[in-house]
Amino acid sequence: MSRFKSLVLLMVIASLALAACSTAAAPEAAAPAAEEAAPAEEAAAPAAEEAPVYTYADMTLCYPQLGAESDWRTANTASIKQTAEELGVTLIFSDAQQKQENQISAVRACIEQGVDVIALPPVVEDGWDAVLTEAQDAGIPVIIVDRSVSADSSLYAAHIGSDMFLEGQRAAEEMNKLLPDGGNILELSGTVGSGAATGRAEGFRDALNDNITILDSQTGNFTRAEAIPVMEAFLKKYAGQVDGVFIHNDDMAIGAIEAIKAAGIEPGDLKIVSVDGTRGGFQAMIDGWIQADVECNPLLGPQVMEMGLKLMNGEAVDPETLTNETVYYPEEAEELLPTRQY
Ligand code: AHR
Repeated sequence: MSRFKSLVLLMVIASLALAACSTAAAPEAAAPAAEEAAPAEEAAAPAAEEAPVYTYADMTLCYPQLGAESDWRTANTASIKQTAEELGVTLIFSDAQQKQENQISAVRACIEQGVDVIALPPVVEDGWDAVLTEAQDAGIPVIIVDRSVSADSSLYAAHIGSDMFLEGQRAAEEMNKLLPDGGNILELSGTVGSGAATGRAEGFRDALNDNITILDSQTGNFTRAEAIPVMEAFLKKYAGQVDGVFIHNDDMAIGAIEAIKAAGIEPGDLKIVSVDGTRGGFQAMIDGWIQADVECNPLLGPQVMEMGLKLMNGEAVDPETLTNETVYYPEEAEELLPTRQY
């Protein structure tokens, strides 16, 4: 072999050896880079664990109100709107005019919009499963407000509202005191199928003395206008037989009192127990028409917004928040009326 050929051969061997070295070294060279990346990942980890803390200004809350049937409802709407404004919550409000199909459409529109929280005051108890499942599938928590639903509790985050059964029991206790020797009474009930009407009716029957008979029960749909003809018909049908009336809300009581007055009956001749504790109810107590008014508090705005924010921030919430309530009497009505907020 010539010296040139030997030199060329040597150079080829040397370059092959170099190439082999650099190929073998490559993974080793990458390793430190990977090691360098590891601390970077560790540094990023705490940031990933820190969930964003939302404030009221971040929250869009949907309130598909069931209607505007009573002074109670007007106060509830005002409480929600005023609280949202004070806290800077974006509120999507609608009025379903006491129709469940309108409420369901409103909930679906809110899901479509991707709101953060839905607070639903259901007009009736049944028929919510499908839309609550849709909200759950969309990852939007639902707070049931005021009345209850019959849907499985796994479909909503929580309920905030009154214990309607207890309200009915309280009303019966008052009727028992007003008619200690027993008697015949009538019932003007709220919206058929609503948690408020069902709970109050059941609680009332649960606590009513055996010597008091409920002659009849008809709905006035929680409105003054619908209560008037119901009471007129009652008074014709049961003329001279009635000692008392249990009325599921103050608006219906005010409508019924119009019919009772028109029939020439004097205040106190019929013992009336009502529910809500609105200003109108207080005035009717002062005027001698209502003998006891069981409180149902509509001022739920602050509790609803607070819970909505907790849900947004992934905090645990109480599945059942019942409002603290009492019973009001004519003797205190005059003094308390100026302080009433609704
Ligand atoms: O669900 C609450 C009830 O609804 C109130 O007692 C009544 O006034 C309202 O319409």
